[in-house]
Amino acid sequence: MNKKKNAAEKAVQYVRDGMKIGLGTGSTAYFAIVRIGELVKEGLRVQAVATSTASERLAVQHEIPLIPFHQIDRLDLTIDGADELDSQLRLIKGGGGALLREKITAFHSDQLLIVADESKVVDRLGNFPLPVEIVPFASEWTLSALEQLGCKVQLRKSESNNLYISDNGNYIVDCNFGIINSPEQLQKQLKEIPGVVEHGLFIGMADRAFIGHEDGSVVVIDRTT
Ligand code: A5P
Repeated sequence: MNKKKNAAEKAVQYVRDGMKIGLGTGSTAYFAIVRIGELVKEGLRVQAVATSTASERLAVQHEIPLIPFHQIDRLDLTIDGADELDSQLRLIKGGGGALLREKITAFHSDQLLIVADESKVVDRLGNFPLPVEIVPFASEWTLSALEQLGCKVQLRKSESNNLYISDNGNYIVDCNFGIINSPEQLQKQLKEIPGVVEHGLFIGMADRAFIGHEDGSVVVIDRTT
């Protein structure tokens, strides 16, 4: 049973003709993009923006019309994955390194739908190291400032063991905090560090999550706060 595919395809049911949509990044958002591509071939009219070069390539491959950012004010809907989510739909994102573009896109979307399998749902955030995008300049200082917030830091490496470079030319630091007691407080502290471009805490952004389960069901969680 493909939990990710089921969750993604359920979320795609919310895409309506004429919508402007944001395409997420990762192995679950992948299934949403593929499904949207199928619907486009059947006549669905959408205009899309992608949250990574990988998703952009996938969209082109599946003939989803892409639109330059400057030609639209807002998106109706974005469908994206998550690395962790709690019952208040607070998220950790950025496992795929696309957190900055994902957050910009989510911020300018009327609705953010999250697609994930059941393993991503947690009582409290923090088991997954929090990805933080930093500028390369004086990165050692930024790493040290991050450490002072109480985490273990790891500069992300690429598969070829070089430093991972984001689509925006920055580094990603994976910050292992353990359980995060106050995601709200932490996001403020992270934003105060010069050199931090963006972090993977998405709070108050997701509207609805579609969670694929082993038995084939998809459970919907709505943000209530
Ligand atoms: C990409 O940067 C991430 O935010 C992804 O959305 C997240 O890592 C979820 O990816 P998967 O669906 O592959 O687990």
